[in-house]
Amino acid sequence: MVGTSIQEEEAYYGFEKHESSVFPSQTVYREDSSLASLNLGAYVYQMQPIDLGVLQIEPTDVCNLKCSMCAPHKEGWDQIHAVPKGMMDMALYEKIIDGLAVDGARFDHIIFQWLGDPSLHPALPRMLRIAGEKLGRNVNYLRVDTNAIRLPPKRMDALLDAVCPGVPLLAVFTIDAHTAPTYEKVKGVDALDRVKANIRHLVRRRRVLGTALNIQVQFVVQEGNAHEAGAFLRYWADLLGCQGGRGWHDEIMFKRLSVGGGSAGQAAADRLYEQTMKRFQIMPGRSSGVNVDVWEHRPWQEDDENKGRRSACPGLWLTPVIRHDGHLMMCCADLRGELNLGSLEHNSFAELWNGESATQKRMDHINGIFDGVCGGCGGINWYETTAAMRRSAQERAVDLGLVEDPRKPETRVDVALVVPH
Ligand SMILES: C[S@@+](CC[C@H](N)C(=O)[O-])C[C@H]1O[C@@H](n2cnc3c(N)ncnc32)[C@H](O)[C@@H]1O
Ligand code: SF4
Repeated sequence: MVGTSIQEEEAYYGFEKHESSVFPSQTVYREDSSLASLNLGAYVYQMQPIDLGVLQIEPTDVCNLKCSMCAPHKEGWDQIHAVPKGMMDMALYEKIIDGLAVDGARFDHIIFQWLGDPSLHPALPRMLRIAGEKLGRNVNYLRVDTNAIRLPPKRMDALLDAVCPGVPLLAVFTIDAHTAPTYEKVKGVDALDRVKANIRHLVRRRRVLGTALNIQVQFVVQEGNAHEAGAFLRYWADLLGCQGGRGWHDEIMFKRLSVGGGSAGQAAADRLYEQTMKRFQIMPGRSSGVNVDVWEHRPWQEDDENKGRRSACPGLWLTPVIRHDGHLMMCCADLRGELNLGSLEHNSFAELWNGESATQKRMDHINGIFDGVCGGCGGINWYETTAAMRRSAQERAVDLGLVEDPRKPETRVDVALVVPH
């Protein structure tokens, strides 16, 4: 059993401590890099949309954990998003990536995960390498989110090898605890030591190789772990600050708990989050050279039973998701598979994303119709669509014949005809 102080762990793993002044600063996040201004550790809620926003690709929806906050795995659902669980087939994956390259689709970044743990896909490093090679010019970076339990040193090395020049990788490790008992309570297994050992191997090799791989450690604040938020910050700021530093863009992310997509209990979770940030004086900014991310903006939802003001959700424009069976979905909050646009095995991304079904859904939102999964989603009030996004959907709806062209003479209302005599 490893102790919880840095010194105890250094002794246990034989891990040397370095001062940040000796770290290389040759990786992509040099302050004079044009990329520095893009906030490359951005998340969907704070991203700078470039063309299509953020693409998610789901290597698998199978998971090795049953985290207390993750309903599909905690409750042991047989099926998630309306299909049997599975792994993405590599021939299908390559076809999809080739199709995206042909379409010239551009994204701020591509996230490898949705509803399982991507590390369980045996070919995850190859997936990253293929995406970097074929789509590198159309994305700013790639990202993978994982609990890191199944990433022992050899597989961490494979992740480092998969990073292509000019296409950095953001590795997000969802840890959610500082001590082993709390980890076991929140994540369902006793594996914190293994997770720490795996991540420590990665940061050590990264420093040796100078690979453009940035790390985010994540903590979803909830009743079972809130008391450890301060210790979590200190531990990871110390470790990443020492082993990373200015050469990389590492982050510690305190994430809000989502309760049923923003339903009963969301307001209480939001309050706990704010109290926890205050209690441990956790503020956005930098700690030991590591970026600290706090969701300070506004709560996901006032418990308003979804009766509050709603605007069209930009997710329908900006957050395509490719399910592990190759179907293109419109939103990652869609656990029931309602917003399914069809298979990328038979259609191109552009056909489906600009097709009738997607355009109709966007028009429904513009017209204030929020049915199905959108009706109960608390996230919908978080973002705003821009006028340009709404205009693009309206123009596409005209092209597809879903609505009449207001500019065409035969559909223009002749004022003289409607003036009462
Ligand atoms: C569903 S997991 C899939 C990826 C991977 N298994 C992992 O844990 O990182 C994606 C993200 O959702 C987060 N998550 C799961 N349930 C959540 C909840 N109720 N509220 C906020 N985040 C949640 C996880 O912490 C993780 O960051
Ligand atoms: S590791 Fe990720 S997908 Fe698995 S149960 Fe935890 S949050 Fe859910």
